[in-house]
Amino acid sequence: MNILILGSGGREHAFTLKLSESNKVNQLFVAPGNAGTAKIATNVNISPTDFNAVKETVLNNQIEMVVVGPEAPLVNGIHDFFLTDNKLKNIPVIGPKKDGALLEGSKDFSKIFMEKHNIPTARYQSFTKDNLTEGFTFLETLNAPYVLKADGLAAGKGVLILDSLDEAKKELEEMVSNQKFGDASSTVVIEEFLDGIELSVFVLTDGKSYKILPSAKDYKRIGEGDKGLNTGGMGAISPVPFATEDFLQKVEERVVIPTVNGLQKDGIDYRGFIFIGLMNVDGNPQVIEYNVRMGDPETEVVLPRIESDLFDLFEGVGNQTLHKKTFSINPKIATTVMLVSGGYPESYEKGKVMTGFDEITESIVYHAGTTTKENNVVTSGGRVMAITSFGDTIEEALKSTYSSIDKIHFDKMNYRKDIGFDLI
Ligand code: AMP
Ligand code: GLY
Repeated sequence: MNILILGSGGREHAFTLKLSESNKVNQLFVAPGNAGTAKIATNVNISPTDFNAVKETVLNNQIEMVVVGPEAPLVNGIHDFFLTDNKLKNIPVIGPKKDGALLEGSKDFSKIFMEKHNIPTARYQSFTKDNLTEGFTFLETLNAPYVLKADGLAAGKGVLILDSLDEAKKELEEMVSNQKFGDASSTVVIEEFLDGIELSVFVLTDGKSYKILPSAKDYKRIGEGDKGLNTGGMGAISPVPFATEDFLQKVEERVVIPTVNGLQKDGIDYRGFIFIGLMNVDGNPQVIEYNVRMGDPETEVVLPRIESDLFDLFEGVGNQTLHKKTFSINPKIATTVMLVSGGYPESYEKGKVMTGFDEITESIVYHAGTTTKENNVVTSGGRVMAITSFGDTIEEALKSTYSSIDKIHFDKMNYRKDIGFDLI
């Protein structure tokens, strides 16, 4: 079978590599892909949100399954587009339709969903410019810090956590009245601050049954000690040591089952990944957010730990036979560290020649923002490469990753040297 993977990051390289290990997979195509995917698949230079170009790619290459990496095509309705096209409707798309993608596309929708299905989450209310004064009043009922979330997609920047009430009121007004995040913040969710440790749990579902994938912890800030600006993610570890069997059982009972059942009750036929961002508050899970895709760089530690054939699982998602699929996870610890361009997440230069990564044998090298130019691999994005290693302990896995990183060079390369610092 030929498969098309949409996206261009480390997550998509990880999908491509894992799928390439399946003997049921024939040719792999990635749109648009990166220098890493080009080595094991055919890159197609189209945008994943250009649905007509995706259609043409699918028909020209006898593609029989589409795996969607990022959220934008899902929120824009790529799965619905396939279902309403006569030539595409029988091709399984791994990723929800527009109705399910709202779990990520609208924070307000996801809060209403959680409340309706009794899924533990922070107390909240939503406001627009028409009830701004009520928003101020609601803020006064909460304690600092104040959490303000733009309802819509804001490239990961739509959440503000503010220490003072005055600042929170000012920002709320900026968001709803002055469109601080454009249309995305015309509705704002204000919620209670949750004090705890964060982790992510990933679920693959065919709409009826589900598999719980390995948990992971992501390091989002650019600076060491988790300080500084937010990024897409600077590193990740799986499994998460504080996600004990007892805690994960609570997650399954209180969050995963009510989520999958809730989608079904609401008539949302969901086929794909659910990324559940959780806060462990005194041993109890509270949902911070849903994403309707895998995380990046979490995928770079979650997928290598899955021992089962990923294609087989996807096939189960497509034809709703996931319950029949066996599923096993490697108990070893996986760590990944992101190499980024100097300056990221603010402005940075591209086109830096990369060396040394081909010599690495003890780690998996996942390309993210890379491209090929005149026979060289050069940087083409902020997050450039994720280096994943296994170990019996976090320390051991990190040691391999950091010693592999020592072999890689490009001008202004930056990375965090303290991934896992809070877990060791
Ligand atoms: P989100 O985009 O919803 O993942 O939010 C970004 C980050 O803000 C999360 O990863 C958390 O670290 C933090 N955050 C979001 N909501 C809350 C909350 N209610 N309490 C504490 N931290 C939060
Ligand atoms: N690493 C966080 C995300 O993928 O949203």
